[in-house]
Amino acid sequence: MGDALPINVDLVNDDTDVVNPWTVTSKSDSGVDYDKLIKRFGSSRIDESLLTRLENVAGKPVHPLIKRGIFFSHRDLHTLLNMKEAGQAFYLYTGRGPSSESMHVGHLVPFIVTKWLQETFDVPLVIQMTDDEKTLWKDLTVEQSMNMARENAKDIIAMGFDVNKTFIFANLDYMGRCSAFYQNIIRIQKCVTFNQVKGIFGFVDSDVIGKIGFPAAQAAPAFSTTFPFIFGNDVLPVLIPCAIDQDPYFRMTRDVAPRLGFPKPALLHSSFFPALQGAKTKMSASDENSAVFLTDTPKQIKNKINKHAFSGGRPTLEEHRELGGNTDIDVSYQLLRFFLYDDDKLESIRIAYSKGQLLSGELKKIAIETLQSIVSDHQNRRKDVTNEILEQFMAPRKLNYNFKEIKSK
Ligand code: TRP
Repeated sequence: MGDALPINVDLVNDDTDVVNPWTVTSKSDSGVDYDKLIKRFGSSRIDESLLTRLENVAGKPVHPLIKRGIFFSHRDLHTLLNMKEAGQAFYLYTGRGPSSESMHVGHLVPFIVTKWLQETFDVPLVIQMTDDEKTLWKDLTVEQSMNMARENAKDIIAMGFDVNKTFIFANLDYMGRCSAFYQNIIRIQKCVTFNQVKGIFGFVDSDVIGKIGFPAAQAAPAFSTTFPFIFGNDVLPVLIPCAIDQDPYFRMTRDVAPRLGFPKPALLHSSFFPALQGAKTKMSASDENSAVFLTDTPKQIKNKINKHAFSGGRPTLEEHRELGGNTDIDVSYQLLRFFLYDDDKLESIRIAYSKGQLLSGELKKIAIETLQSIVSDHQNRRKDVTNEILEQFMAPRKLNYNFKEIKSK
């Protein structure tokens, strides 16, 4: 689809929704208008036929986060599936900007689907920690960001990734360990003008110069030669699962890829994880009360949801029983869409709440229990992730994969 680089068109904002890698807000209670966003960005909707196809190639039902439309948009997924069916190799790339020591439950979402894809297709995975990005955009020193990258990487490892198939790297560290990374960054930077990044990201003249060059650092891992110890000189296509606010980076990447002799990366986009206060903004690690953190105690989770989770229930008990609640804007229900994977149970909750049989407090209780169990399971696994295990994931090394047909550059 048409993802040529915009030069004079402002793709950054529109009247009701602001969606870019640093800000996501909507004036509407139900959040960002994703149909409009797909048009504005020029991506494609994941429709029934693509779901069926994905299921056929995967040989099993797709993950609930995909089935429920939380991953709702893509670029070139058909092309990638064609290649997969023809027996060709590919790899997965995703990442995390470490802006706080503790991640929140929303941060798990892209990694849950990435893990499902890795296990389903048995492919290598690279995970980028953009500590450089966070230093440039936030009030954080280089040292603080580097430390957060390591702490966040431990949370990612705790999700159960296979060390033999997964490489995690933090930009500020990896840049010094692998010159191929910087070489690809420069190749990319040579293809993109200041005008173009202004159009894509909304940079202004007063932005520090590090920001202007940074997008190339997020683009480079989409090219397999950035990891010579994994792929040698082989050119492999890549699939990038990410939240849709990251799309500007990859529009730029897709534009330069053919000029540098690489295939365009395929993308799988997720919608945003709502703040507890409602879908007008996404959950943010910099706002304590907007998010449930992976370090929260069961009591904190209970208090936060009871106190802050926006309710789609009616103002009085009588009205609620008569008219029913609105699951579209109810944050506790939305949390269950992301984390309760028993379809029948979720559907019966939706019906009972919509009919007014289930009350807001009761729905909150289900959300609280679901999140308490996810967070405490995570904490149990996280405490076993030692520095030594972290080093294993972050060591440049060969990954354990075996593909027959790889196109060499
Ligand atoms: N910029 C992303 C963030 O702030 C981190 C990131 C780097 C990323 N590379 C990625 C996210 C690839 C998704 C896919 O969180």
